[in-house]
Amino acid sequence: KITSISALEILDSRGNPTLRAYVTLDDGTKTSASVPSGASTGLNEALELRDDEKRYNGKGVQKAVENVNKKIATALTGMHAVDQKAIDYTMIELDGTENKSKLGANAILGVSMAVAKAAAVSSNLPLYRYLGGSNTLRIPVPCMNILNGGEHADNSVDFQEFMLVPHGAPNFKEGLRYVAETFHVLKKILKDKGLATSVGDEGGFAPNCASNEIAIEFIIKAIEQAGYQSGKDLSIAIDSAANSFSPNLDDKYDLTKSGAGKMTTDQLIDLSGEWLKKYPIISWEDPLSEGDWDGFSKFTKKFGDKIEVVGDDIFVTNRKYISRGISEKTANSALIKLNQIGSVTETIEAVQMCREAGWRYFLSHRSGETEDTFLADFAVAMDGGHLKAGSACRGERVSKYNRLLEIEHELKGRAEYRWK
Ligand code: PGA
Ligand code: ZN
Repeated sequence: KITSISALEILDSRGNPTLRAYVTLDDGTKTSASVPSGASTGLNEALELRDDEKRYNGKGVQKAVENVNKKIATALTGMHAVDQKAIDYTMIELDGTENKSKLGANAILGVSMAVAKAAAVSSNLPLYRYLGGSNTLRIPVPCMNILNGGEHADNSVDFQEFMLVPHGAPNFKEGLRYVAETFHVLKKILKDKGLATSVGDEGGFAPNCASNEIAIEFIIKAIEQAGYQSGKDLSIAIDSAANSFSPNLDDKYDLTKSGAGKMTTDQLIDLSGEWLKKYPIISWEDPLSEGDWDGFSKFTKKFGDKIEVVGDDIFVTNRKYISRGISEKTANSALIKLNQIGSVTETIEAVQMCREAGWRYFLSHRSGETEDTFLADFAVAMDGGHLKAGSACRGERVSKYNRLLEIEHELKGRAEYRWK
């Protein structure tokens, strides 16, 4: 039984405040969980409650903390931590709004995650096993964002994320090594060209490339120079995060950062088609903006049988939008971010909806993260086969990968590793 709940305002990896929740049970269990925060957010995401004051440029979360300490603590004290669904829906009802704007999705999610951790500890189970059941054996393929652009870096690359996907590795441990080695080769390639090797928000390099295409060519060169076969050992996943270069959410795309100019939906789809012919891309997220449902469907119709087409900002881990996507064949995969919807239960429900439709689902961190490793266990539990948690550097990114190494080790040879 829950005996106390509280929260603290802490800092995330970008130096902005976020919320950490604490839950105590009557058997002495005490856990905490920290909430991540995005930069290139979808319009329909659940609301992060931020203080409207001078401190932290209005980004403080003292109101959300107070909502945990008072309203949420009062409502949940005495409930059983294993009743995750009842606990989450109690908070959702207490909030009473569609986007969690009253209590804050950050307040609700922090408590929701800390409750799951407490229930796991109290049941003497690792979190992935508690959430996923006894057959949870699959370690996700890490899609590691080694080159950052868009809103995550002050450089000249329009597309937000270029990820390395070590799907040809025999296990997670080796996959992680493939990417880390390639990451270091890429660093050398960039350095030799006189380009910057400082990193963006998710730990990928953020060089000023002359075009988006050159960025991908550097990556392929790095794969080969590291001694791997591109398309066999390592492939590429892209997140265009197209909202960020389609600010008005219509069908005009403005690739201003790289100077590639304006494009219509069809022109952008054609460009993607050219890339798919030339490069070993296996997954493409948000190739079009959240307002461009028709463009998304067109893209999926053209390329969906060859690659994973992932909707992030368009679906926001919300069953309302995922179900529209399923019926309109908008994509064939949904990105899954706990804080887009704001509770563990609703996130699991979104995953279930994808599974039932035969869709893939892609577990994801946010560009603003903390050292919390909840996502690693959660991704194993959800058994989606892949996750993205950033590059091979920055503590808040590698903490997730290191936790996955630990889980794979703990499973002692029973762990599975496969892209699909
Ligand atoms: P965000 O980026 O966390 O800034 O939203 C991640 C993504 O777009 O997938
Ligand atoms: Zn995205």
